[in-house]
Amino acid sequence: MMDVSSLKKKVENNIMCGIVGYIGTNKATDILLESLELLEYRGYDSAGVAFCSGKNVQVYKCPNRVAVLKELVKEQKEDAHVGIGHTRWATHGSVSYKNSHPHQVGQVTLVHNGIIENYKELIHTYHLEDQLVSSGDSEVACALLNLFYKKDPMEAIIKTLSVIEGTYALVMIFSDRQEEIYAVRKVSPIVVSENETERMLASDVMPLSRISKEYFTLPEQVILKMSKEGIHLYDFEGHEVEKKKERLDWDIEQMNQQGYPYYMEKEIAEQKEVLQRTLLSYVEDSFPCFEREALTEELFEKSKHLVIVACGTSYHAGLYAKNLFEKIAHLKTDVYLASEFIYQEPVMEEDTLVLVISQSGETIDTLEALRHSKEMGYQTLSIVNVKGSSIAKESDYTLYTYAGPEIAVASTKAYTCQLMVLFLLVYRFAYTRNRFTKEEVQQEIEELKKVPYSVEDIYQRKEEFQECAKEFKDEKDLYMIGRGFDYYILLEAALKMKEVSYIHTEAYASGELKHGPIALIEQDTTVIACLTQKDLVSKASSNMKEVRARGAKVIAFMKPSLEKYLEQKISIILLNDLKDDLMVFPAIVAFQLLAYYVACEKGLNVDKPRNLAKVVTVE
Ligand code: AGP
Repeated sequence: MMDVSSLKKKVENNIMCGIVGYIGTNKATDILLESLELLEYRGYDSAGVAFCSGKNVQVYKCPNRVAVLKELVKEQKEDAHVGIGHTRWATHGSVSYKNSHPHQVGQVTLVHNGIIENYKELIHTYHLEDQLVSSGDSEVACALLNLFYKKDPMEAIIKTLSVIEGTYALVMIFSDRQEEIYAVRKVSPIVVSENETERMLASDVMPLSRISKEYFTLPEQVILKMSKEGIHLYDFEGHEVEKKKERLDWDIEQMNQQGYPYYMEKEIAEQKEVLQRTLLSYVEDSFPCFEREALTEELFEKSKHLVIVACGTSYHAGLYAKNLFEKIAHLKTDVYLASEFIYQEPVMEEDTLVLVISQSGETIDTLEALRHSKEMGYQTLSIVNVKGSSIAKESDYTLYTYAGPEIAVASTKAYTCQLMVLFLLVYRFAYTRNRFTKEEVQQEIEELKKVPYSVEDIYQRKEEFQECAKEFKDEKDLYMIGRGFDYYILLEAALKMKEVSYIHTEAYASGELKHGPIALIEQDTTVIACLTQKDLVSKASSNMKEVRARGAKVIAFMKPSLEKYLEQKISIILLNDLKDDLMVFPAIVAFQLLAYYVACEKGLNVDKPRNLAKVVTVE
């Protein structure tokens, strides 16, 4: 088993920038800039492109947004049909022009994603000092390629890879071969697509859908040569390697904002459709069916302990599901933050199934937790939204959510689709473990079929939440209180509010208030309560009285049928009625809308909140 320090080093080494490469009949300038915009959701601080004009390989780059890069590129007069592009998320080396990509040394122009661990040593070994202008590692790879380049790209690449250590997706152009793009990878992803007249590679599938619905992942340690004639893959002995094609189930239209003011609202609005799609993808005869994903009965039988690992919103989905797996399926379940998991030594027997949850499938903490689990010999199942992502590829089993591309940094539809898949897994385990008969499972599935309509009902009332948001936009602190499932709903609700409105928001288990947090309550403190659990409503109601007695203003988001148990006059937002454990769906959509409209009221950048990236690729 890998020791923690080497794991930590591995985690640090895995960074994820955005890479694109294009050869085709369209203008490379337009294609590459559009593609970099499609990769913006991953988060970055610098952007750059390089175009082949026949005379030279022209580089444009800036420690700024793609919009600024676009202005720079307007200087490009010649039409170019070959080019590469990059968005950088700085970890090693400051945010500066010199550290931005593409790098150019001699005959080589290069973009890189990953980290060359031994770059300082290589600088000395090969006396590269006077060729470098940046303080980063990527330029060293570029200089080595130039040093080893004697008119044979394959030879230069193989020699370079033989001396560098670390992780990389390297994409390069040799200035005397401006009709060709070369690429090679280790750990950092590269996916590739082509049609009759165009070839494209990228860090993830987002930009590829304009080229084709088919794509393939560049295998590690295989050299890709892309030209107008086609795409060829070679191993280090020069033998041709087969492309394993897969199909994209998204198209560029789905990725567009389609008239919504922000992607976040579009993605909240899509939840009815994507929940239906996700549910129906895994149900046959009103029973959970995972045959296509090769989840056998044997896996459900032999798994006696579930360990869920995730980050952020995905972690909140896991926390909610823990209660379901234990209450309904009586399956011992533990949930860990991925960033903590690899440093702990959880007690896990051999019949443990590790379940990783990730929208992007590229979150490096979660990816490393998955790798750690596999190194320890556990079976791994992932719930992922992005097809062909690293986590999907490296798990033993993968269940996709069919939420479609989620562009807004704040995760909404992915969360509810993750929960949908988790409910289906819970019922499947409950059946195998003789907690439910087949008929009882089928009844539960019929209840699940109501969920998409319930969330649509909430979305259709969006003006109500827009109005409600006006009450909160000037708050500095918000407290959210709930018991049981309501507490886990509020953990996610609080994260939404924090990350898009920047209001400090904390969720507390109501019963925990008297153990400290109630000291924070003073006159006119705003408290949001969530009441959806019938068996807890009286206790939750008395907790609301506790905070009101200390001056708090309380607004309750609640299940309509519980209103009669309230025994107090407070502001209420009525949700709609589903069975208690399904109330997370309408409740979280209400809280998603509330956070969204508070951010809109504050005039914030709702889709790209400060300091955040959609794909968190540094630990
Ligand atoms: C949620 O709104 C955030 N964007 C963030 O917490 C996110 O859920 C987390 O980074 C995990 O991302 P993943 O699901 O892609 O792994």
